Amino acid sequence: MKKHKDTLIGQIASVSGNIISVKLFDNIKSAMPIIDGVVYRVGQIGSFLKIPLGYANLYGLVTNIGADAIPESMRDTTLVEYDKIVNAGWISLVLVGEQIGNKFERGITQSPTTGDEVHIVTIQDLNIVYGGWNEASSITVGNISVSESLAAKIDIDKLVTRHCAILGSTGSGKSNTVAVLLEAIAKNDFKSSRILVIDPHGEYNEALKDYSKVYKVNADTTKNQNELYIPFWALPFNELMSIFSGNLTEANRDYIRSEIVNRKIATTELIDESENKYIDISKESITADSPIPFSLNQLWFDLDDFERQTFIKKEVDGKKSNELIKTEIIVHGDADRLTSNEYPPASTNNSEPFINNKAKAILRFTDSIRSRLLNTQYNFLFDCGELKPDLTGKVTKDIDTLLAEWLEHDKPITILDLSGVPTEIMTSISGALLKIVYDALFWGQNTPVGGKQQPLLVVLEEAHNYLKAGENSISSRTVQTIAKEGRKYGVGLLLVTQRPSELDETVLSQCGTLISLRMNNSKDRGHITSAVQDELQTMIDLLPSLRTGEGIISGEAVKIPSRVKFFKISNAPKSADPKVSEQWQKDKPDANLYKEVIKNWRSQTIK
Ligand SMILES: Nc1ncnc2c1ncn2[C@@H]1O[C@H](COP(=O)(O)OP(=O)(O)OP(=O)(O)O)[C@@H](O)[C@H]1O
Ligand SMILES: [Mg+2]
Repeated sequence: MKKHKDTLIGQIASVSGNIISVKLFDNIKSAMPIIDGVVYRVGQIGSFLKIPLGYANLYGLVTNIGADAIPESMRDTTLVEYDKIVNAGWISLVLVGEQIGNKFERGITQSPTTGDEVHIVTIQDLNIVYGGWNEASSITVGNISVSESLAAKIDIDKLVTRHCAILGSTGSGKSNTVAVLLEAIAKNDFKSSRILVIDPHGEYNEALKDYSKVYKVNADTTKNQNELYIPFWALPFNELMSIFSGNLTEANRDYIRSEIVNRKIATTELIDESENKYIDISKESITADSPIPFSLNQLWFDLDDFERQTFIKKEVDGKKSNELIKTEIIVHGDADRLTSNEYPPASTNNSEPFINNKAKAILRFTDSIRSRLLNTQYNFLFDCGELKPDLTGKVTKDIDTLLAEWLEHDKPITILDLSGVPTEIMTSISGALLKIVYDALFWGQNTPVGGKQQPLLVVLEEAHNYLKAGENSISSRTVQTIAKEGRKYGVGLLLVTQRPSELDETVLSQCGTLISLRMNNSKDRGHITSAVQDELQTMIDLLPSLRTGEGIISGEAVKIPSRVKFFKISNAPKSADPKVSEQWQKDKPDANLYKEVIKNWRSQTIK
């Protein structure tokens, strides 16, 4: 039993719930015991200690060392006694799990008591604590920091269904961690895995190129990228309106809303080649939010025309009556080419021709629709290839094909690279995209392509950009819905952010697993604090001192909170730091290259 004695370091002094105060033996305090040739350090925050209880071993995580670990009741003593207490070594633990035989389980079924022995955890013990994973449902993402020989694993079922957040300051290794995680899933046997990455900066194309299909605005087809189209008619009404500038009164908003509803109804009633209704649904169920095609060019043309019409008094028997009729068009406009009809101009002194007294005074708004339709930056929305409706509202490709292309292909990962989307509509577009995908999986919940039968993991890079606390945007609302209900419909979230303090708190609290990388800002750490179990707070204090690529994984996807050094992905995400010293030693490049820079800028492409 010599081995047993070597590992003994102290005794339990008090038990309060699952918090244990341990008094170390005097000779242990600063010692570094060597067991089987391995040097151990007693009491590192985040390390484990073992409490043998007959047939079971309890495991506790070290959360406090020194005076803070002294039980409350003992702090209230005379100064002399206090000195004695302080000079003894103290450690407090939070109980995290229990080992019976060779099996380690999270949670404890029995409590220790005062006087029980506390032991160092050896490599053999750690093998049991970190081992025992179901290989079929776990992935390896790195090594356990305290012992590099131990693999750090994550349970993928819990990771996806209970949502996960990856948090850390800039440069702490978040994008690398995402890439490692996704690669580990993709490399595994999950041949039908479905992962959708919303990638605002186009970081992952390179890192995950072997496992992903990339959709990008202004795609470079030589790099295997596909053109990203998001048909404007699939956006909810409010999102579509938010793309145009200019304010509308409530009445005018309703006017445009009902124009859109009527056009969507008209589209469904068109007759297709086989003499059937074009889209067979009852018109009562159609709203301005229904993903049904209609022609925005025609809507613009009609709204614009109504504002421009002028009127003269109708002549009856050679005399002017009080009935008004429309003037003749002078120049015919064209909805496709976005030119307006021209009428004889209205008089300014209350004589003929009159302006249209039913006009809504929305020319400024219709102009903004026109300028958006003409702006090539918005082609991905309005000039969306086969998804663009003709003037009657017919499309050659419907949204089901789009979803199938995004979600059902031979690669496990789909990257929607939004780097070409104008920043001012980024929130709307990413939100609308998520809503299109989530709604489809929600309504398809009982089909084999629904999320329950084939779960979807949605990765949101830079989540703070479109999930701002207190904001009622479509992206916040959609992500909140997924966070609350996604589990039921097989949709999981993986949020990545460097600003947890800006993130919506309810969403963060719905994340069952937290991967916290280095975090310098105390305000941001404060937000993580509120999302983790109380007893683990002291682990949060470790965050500023973590190495790049090192993090603390806590929550449902791991058996116990673990400090992990993540692998480094071989194809670095694009965000990887430039090697300054190396680059600055090279010769300067040709100054003519700025010509190319400006050409790229003007054509809004990055070559
Ligand atoms: N596990 C790791 N081991 C070694 N180096 C790493 C590891 N993870 C990241 N790095 C390096 O750290 C740098 C920053 O990593 P990364 O781009 O993943 O950070 P980030 O947290 O996503 O930053 P940002 O918030 O700016 O997007 C990169 O150069 C990367 O190669
Ligand atoms: Mg990053």
